[in-house]
Amino acid sequence: MCGIVGYVGAQQANGRPLEVVMGGLKRLEYRGYDSAGVALVPQEGRALATAKKAGKLANLAAELEATPLPAATAAIGHTRWATHGAPTDVNAHPHLSEDGALAVIHNGIIENFAELRAELEAAGVTLTSETDTEVVAHLVAAAYATTPDLTEALRSVARRLHGTFTLLAVHVDAPDVVVGARHDSPLVVGLGDGENYLGSDVAAFIAHTREALELGQDQVVTITPTTVSVTDFDGNPVEARRFTVDWDAAAAEKGGFGSFMDKEIHDQPHAVADTLLGRTDTTGRLVLDDLRVDEAVLRQVDKIIVIACGTAAYAGQVAKYAIEHWCRIPVEVELAHEFRYRDPIVNSKTLVVAVSQSGETMDTLMAVRHAREQGATVLAIVNTHGSTIPRESDAVLYTHAGPEVAVASTKAFLAQITAAYLLGLYLAQLRGTKFPDEIAEMLDALRELPEKIQAVIDGAGHVREVARSMADVASVLFLGRHVGYPVAMEGALKLKELAYIHAEGFAAGELKHGPIALIEEGQAVFIIVPSPRGRDSLHSKVISNIQEIRARGARTLVIAEEGDSDVLPFADEVFYVPQTPVLLAPLVSVVPLQIFAMELATAKGLDVDQPRNLAKSVTVE
Ligand code: M6R
Repeated sequence: MCGIVGYVGAQQANGRPLEVVMGGLKRLEYRGYDSAGVALVPQEGRALATAKKAGKLANLAAELEATPLPAATAAIGHTRWATHGAPTDVNAHPHLSEDGALAVIHNGIIENFAELRAELEAAGVTLTSETDTEVVAHLVAAAYATTPDLTEALRSVARRLHGTFTLLAVHVDAPDVVVGARHDSPLVVGLGDGENYLGSDVAAFIAHTREALELGQDQVVTITPTTVSVTDFDGNPVEARRFTVDWDAAAAEKGGFGSFMDKEIHDQPHAVADTLLGRTDTTGRLVLDDLRVDEAVLRQVDKIIVIACGTAAYAGQVAKYAIEHWCRIPVEVELAHEFRYRDPIVNSKTLVVAVSQSGETMDTLMAVRHAREQGATVLAIVNTHGSTIPRESDAVLYTHAGPEVAVASTKAFLAQITAAYLLGLYLAQLRGTKFPDEIAEMLDALRELPEKIQAVIDGAGHVREVARSMADVASVLFLGRHVGYPVAMEGALKLKELAYIHAEGFAAGELKHGPIALIEEGQAVFIIVPSPRGRDSLHSKVISNIQEIRARGARTLVIAEEGDSDVLPFADEVFYVPQTPVLLAPLVSVVPLQIFAMELATAKGLDVDQPRNLAKSVTVE
């Protein structure tokens, strides 16, 4: 979950390494923000220059301002999400060897750290922190003492470690070298001109280069200002795949908005439009070029299982309704961590769709591996190029949401749903379960969505106002049916993670099977009302649900389609969204809920980009 940056470049020692690393950490801070630290390698000298501070990156920046570090030729930096040891100055990374000549930063968990720690202590090494990472620093130092080659030293230690790790190491003896190792944890290389970069993801260096290398599992990389060499853990050379990042550095800036989340909500029309872009040929047929999977394999699929976590799993639940309806293939949606450990029934006719913004979520990655081991074809819907999940999948369908920085997912959710719709329509085309004109009609409807999403954002004044007036609310419930059900759960998740308020999403039909007992005078309940133009019974059943809770004192906050006057007698507040085909409605109906959660959290004085206890990329199980 931590963010890692490495830089080597200037032949002459100067301030650029620190500047690059701090800039990279700022862009990676969403990966963890318990503490942060840097280590700089001076061109000459016997000790590294380091600084580390508990709390957000701003604390480290203030420390560096107060006590500037000397010029350097290489640097590493880390922003932490604590696993072993509290988020204190001492436990912050980097961790140093006893002589201060070597520094290590780490993302992941070293599962055998206790036995390694005991081994070091028995050898007389004094450990100063509670972290699993510090043992690596001392082990690499010991290996280096025998073989003074930093790459070989890190490689030999990597072979001894169990668990998950990305490690970066620097040594005073090698002022123009940064070495990295990865096992089940992300690391990408940025290729510069006379300088090179390492990062947990490409956001670390997109301000400087878009040329990058993907690293594989169990690989070690050594960067100098002009070279990048990659080997496996045994030292055999490996060819890394080069790719170009299509994100614009400006896309990872706030662009005048008060928060990344607000900016990313406003990015949503583009995220959907860009995800739809270039997916059809001149005859209007869907061509998913980046899918890289044999059509014959897709034709024989008899079951789809969507695996994902959090918001991505709710995108999968929306997809289930659409794909089953369009393709007549059974679709199961499962939280990746549950799928992996329940011995799922999967075979060569199963298509597993892994949905992930980051492409690094460990639970999802483990589920992908498990599914492939069982013979399934795995198709990834992912936003981040160079990430692990697409590399380990059989096929990939990229969303084009651009970098998502706020911890709470917004535009990635809409882009995931859009990509899943494209997949559903593609399968329907391939398998002939929908006529070409039906598919074309649905694609046309999808292409109208960016404008409709924009209209919701532009007209969100009322939802913002209501949210601000509810800053003291203790609990909010969310009800939805059909595709409105995952939207309800997503609305509840946004409120929980941003405003720290008890919130739950229910299937409206489940209400009378228990949750209605929660309704008392003043209980706030959002209800996502399906279109009255869709299946009529669905609309009228939800209207009945609103009446049932209102009769018991609930304060009803209704999201309904423009022109739906049936809701008016029973709604305390109505938030209208543009008319949309039923299956596509989540793309508009979730937007007021995102804005509600953001605005309410802001009214409570909370940091909506970096909510407490969370990290954007959950790279440990
Ligand atoms: O990167 P992923 O899409 O795999 O992340 C999955 C979840 O961790 C993520 O959606 C999480 O639930 C968000 N914080 C929700 O806003």
